[in-house]
Amino acid sequence: MKAAVILSVFLSVFHNTQSLLPPRFQWKILDYAWEGHAREAALASGAYIPENNMPTGITRWKNKLFITVPRWKKGVPSSLNYIYVNGSQNQPLNPYPSWSEAFVSDKSCCISSNSTVVSTFRIHVDKCDRLWVVDNGVADMTKALKQITAPAIVVFDLNNNRLIHRYVLEEDVLRDSSVLTSIVVDIIGKGCDNTYAYIPDMGSNALIVYSLGGNEAWRVENHYFHFDPHSGVYNVGGVKFYWSDGVSSAVLVPSKKTSSYRDLYFHPTSSTKQFRMSTRLLRDESYGAENSFGVQVLGDRGPMSQATACDYDHSHNVIFYTQLSRNGVSCWNLDRQMTVGNVPLVTSDCTILEFPSDVKIDKDSNLWILSNRQSRFLYGSMDFNQINFRVLTAPVGKIIKGTACERPSTVEKALSFIIRPKSQ
Ligand SMILES: *[C@@H]1O[C@H](CO)[C@@H](O)[C@H](O)[C@H]1NC(C)=O
Ligand SMILES: *[C@@H]1O[C@H](CO)[C@@H](O)[C@H](O)[C@H]1NC(C)=O
Repeated sequence: MKAAVILSVFLSVFHNTQSLLPPRFQWKILDYAWEGHAREAALASGAYIPENNMPTGITRWKNKLFITVPRWKKGVPSSLNYIYVNGSQNQPLNPYPSWSEAFVSDKSCCISSNSTVVSTFRIHVDKCDRLWVVDNGVADMTKALKQITAPAIVVFDLNNNRLIHRYVLEEDVLRDSSVLTSIVVDIIGKGCDNTYAYIPDMGSNALIVYSLGGNEAWRVENHYFHFDPHSGVYNVGGVKFYWSDGVSSAVLVPSKKTSSYRDLYFHPTSSTKQFRMSTRLLRDESYGAENSFGVQVLGDRGPMSQATACDYDHSHNVIFYTQLSRNGVSCWNLDRQMTVGNVPLVTSDCTILEFPSDVKIDKDSNLWILSNRQSRFLYGSMDFNQINFRVLTAPVGKIIKGTACERPSTVEKALSFIIRPKSQ
């Protein structure tokens, strides 16, 4: 008995060591690829305060790795940026689509171009090579909150770096407490025009649905978009804090039937449960009001498993979750029941993965993870002589090997199908 316990402990330690990833990019402090003497000028004017820049979101497209820097504090020169995937480990950020369009100072009255992104947390690249950004439009979020421009959805064509569309969100879909944390995109049929975007509003417990074809947006509310009072306490990087954050991230899973509707898997940040609802309801503008029907509770990832972000890998049918309180990333194979044992932590390190903030899967089925020491940045103090921000990457197949996230056998699959709740 004792030997078996020791052996399994040994194996799990071994597995963690195996899957520990070396950082691909890492920074002590964020800097930008300034032109001419702009850096000195920005430092002097306060448009760039290095220690106030913290990355929260990533996404890869070809040789670009996009990195977002929200305006939590003053002195963020550009919120939407990229680095080169084949570039150096601590390279400076390049504002997107250009310096003149991306630069915003805290004193700005308004945006200089419709391509300007004032403040964004997480972004999305779709299969039509479009970059989807939800701009909160605010500066200095934590102190003297200032609305520089109205919240908007901003879409770029990555092949020519041109703006496709800026859609300004009307006041009726927002609330005073709105915080738009991410965006997930649903392309219907063959072309690229019939597209919907679903935007979690973590601050006011809603999903905002945008139809590109109809160029309109509406608000969907549901009791399951709210936080779980049992999951509000966090302890990350030696900082204890309390968050009552609602729905913050979601992924779309292809429908197995010939329907044009898909299942949206979502969760609030301050929750350990996984929920699912059909896009049939979200795309129905009359659903709107405060509901609780149409949502299925699929299971619980277990204690301390709150996640700021998740992403879905189609080729393995796996969702990955950032695990704040566990300094790592966990995953769940959708062919299995969601139980604590079926959501293993596949990589974890209390230094390298302190506060994993975003997780993304690229087109080649690589997992990308961003960690940012956010609890120290917001509630404690940062040591800029240490590495604070890291990007790690590994092929999904490699990282889930030997874990419960691997494809189950035919027998396992048949069994779980029998006991699984039916899809919409
Ligand atoms: C990165 O790749 C581009 C082509 O995509 C190439 O022009 C550039 O020289 C490469 N940079 C490095 C540092 O290898
Ligand atoms: C943004 O686009 C709108 C609508 O096309 C236009 O009226 C407005 O002038 C543009 N704003 C800027 C700053 O270019």
